[in-house]
Amino acid sequence: MKNFNRNTAQWQELDRDHHIHPFSDAAKLNAKGTRVITKAEGSYIWDSEGNKILDGMAGLWCVNVGYGRQEIIDAADKQMKELCYYNSFFQTSNPPQIELGRLLSDVTPDGFDHFFYSSSGSEANDTVVRMVRHYWEILGKTTKKTIISRNNAYHGSTLAGTSLGGMKYMHEMGGSLLPGFEHISQPHWYLDGGAATEEEFGLACAQELEAKIKEIGADNVAAFIGEPIQGAGGVIVPPANYWPEIQRICHKYDILLCADEVICGFGRTGTWFGSETMGIKPDVITMAKGLSSGYLPISAVGLHQHVAQTIIEGGDINHGYTYSGHPVASAAAIANINYIIDHNIVEIVGSETGPYLQKGFQDLADRHVMVGEARGRGMMGALQMVQDKDVRKLFDADLDVGNKCRDHCFENNLIMRAVGQSMIVSPPLTMTISEIDELLEKAEMCLDLTARDLGIA
Ligand SMILES: Cc1ncc(COP(=O)(O)O)c(C=O)c1O
Repeated sequence: MKNFNRNTAQWQELDRDHHIHPFSDAAKLNAKGTRVITKAEGSYIWDSEGNKILDGMAGLWCVNVGYGRQEIIDAADKQMKELCYYNSFFQTSNPPQIELGRLLSDVTPDGFDHFFYSSSGSEANDTVVRMVRHYWEILGKTTKKTIISRNNAYHGSTLAGTSLGGMKYMHEMGGSLLPGFEHISQPHWYLDGGAATEEEFGLACAQELEAKIKEIGADNVAAFIGEPIQGAGGVIVPPANYWPEIQRICHKYDILLCADEVICGFGRTGTWFGSETMGIKPDVITMAKGLSSGYLPISAVGLHQHVAQTIIEGGDINHGYTYSGHPVASAAAIANINYIIDHNIVEIVGSETGPYLQKGFQDLADRHVMVGEARGRGMMGALQMVQDKDVRKLFDADLDVGNKCRDHCFENNLIMRAVGQSMIVSPPLTMTISEIDELLEKAEMCLDLTARDLGIA
């Protein structure tokens, strides 16, 4: 470990010389220098300058149980010593992987008993694409290939993840939108609803799915995929009638309904899965992030019994990853899920900390001149900044308000993320009430500083 003992400037220089960062402008970042994170505990991270920072994003929506939980560290350590790796291709399995499946069948929604493992949300969503198409092939419906999702959805960064996602700027890089993927509107009433009521807008957005299916032909559509609450798109909570209508349409046209639970899973919205919070009965679910709270990379695709049975009886599955069912990652995931159960984390988010955070956000929106809407469920939320609250008018894009506010947060030792003109949070689910108070105070201060930059009183 001796070479880990450098100072900030030395690390920044090496980072500049050897590291290409995801989702960043390398030249700009190199000019500025990265912040080097050196340790973490509970809801806080520390940088190499010794600053203690409140992590309002749980890393990248993933450290649900908070940092440094000894139970998870010990489980990984023990498993690393016993069996650090073996594959699941050669008609072989390993105890943590087997036990994880049993545990997942307990905590996932009813009817989910079978799981396919990989290492990231993106790989899991690639698996979803291949599995749902394979499912229809087994049933002799070989033309059912197209998958429909939403604009501004995020489903990962591999080619299939990018294509499932609806981020235009990602499609544009390298011509990454593959054929066989279609997108409909995001159900973002506050920004896109115009004069429509939430109900009218929710219905109209969902019915775009029906129109799209008719345009392509139901015989050509394999599945619809959506995050129960869109995360990276800006914590978009759909109107209450949206998901029931999507469910009805998928059923009517014999289309599989896939819920991407990568963010919403494992307690984030106050129930075990976002599908439960939003009243969705999916056929397929994608899990990652909160599955191991990010301690080690692992993801899983859950197949509902009727899908799993078809796949099991359908012959060879020509799909898999070297790290599918990795024993150490599986052991960490088991310890993480047990930690969630033993500490009643889902119940606490559902009845205490989640409502407290949401009320804090709502109060802030009510009193702050720049906040037009507070959105969220459980421990995920967004503060929508607007120039004019009365008419829901956004700021000029050139003002870059989101990044201005994000930078103030950064300087004041709070991690909040900017998505367009929304400031979003997704803190560890173990964040305490007093830590939430700190988050709310700092968030308000950074909004005030941003307002001051803009010359707003
Ligand atoms: C909903 C959703 N799906 C998939 C992914 C991709 O996961 P990963 O970055 O682990 O590949 C993400 C990542 O943020 C996500 O938010």
